Amino acid sequence: MRPLLISFLFLLDAVRVSGKHGEALLGGENSPALVEQDFLENWNGKTVGSLVELIRTTMPSDGPGRLSRQQCTDIAAYLLSANNFPAGDNELAADPGAQNDILFQAKK
Ligand code: HEM
Repeated sequence: MRPLLISFLFLLDAVRVSGKHGEALLGGENSPALVEQDFLENWNGKTVGSLVELIRTTMPSDGPGRLSRQQCTDIAAYLLSANNFPAGDNELAADPGAQNDILFQAKK
């Protein structure tokens, strides 16, 4: 497997198996769901850049600050796909400027 893929699978595992947000990302005992209505309502009108920044500065909540911007970008891309946002033609860029141009928008 390619190293990038391995590191992505490792991160995915960190989110799911750390178990705090639930194995299906539906939320844990004290942590919110990262998919479906609650998540989408929380993020409606905000930017992908602010999601990446929140993950980078506050998650995992029992030891934040260890994930790089690239790792947080990969997790954000995974969360977008888990919430059924369509994939673009290119990989989500780790550049904060570009990420702040992408808005979460609820379906009308
Ligand atoms: C790298 C792994 C993790 C990622 C990517 C992650 C991601 C997130 C995201 C995106 C949110 C915002 C949800 C929203 O606004 O709708 C969040 C909130 C939260 N997470 Fe995590 N999380 C991780 C690990 C953890 C762990 C290990 C814990 C607990 C020990 C945890 C506890 C919480 C709590 C309590 C909140 C709510 C914070 C608040 O509302 O102020 N997370 N997480």
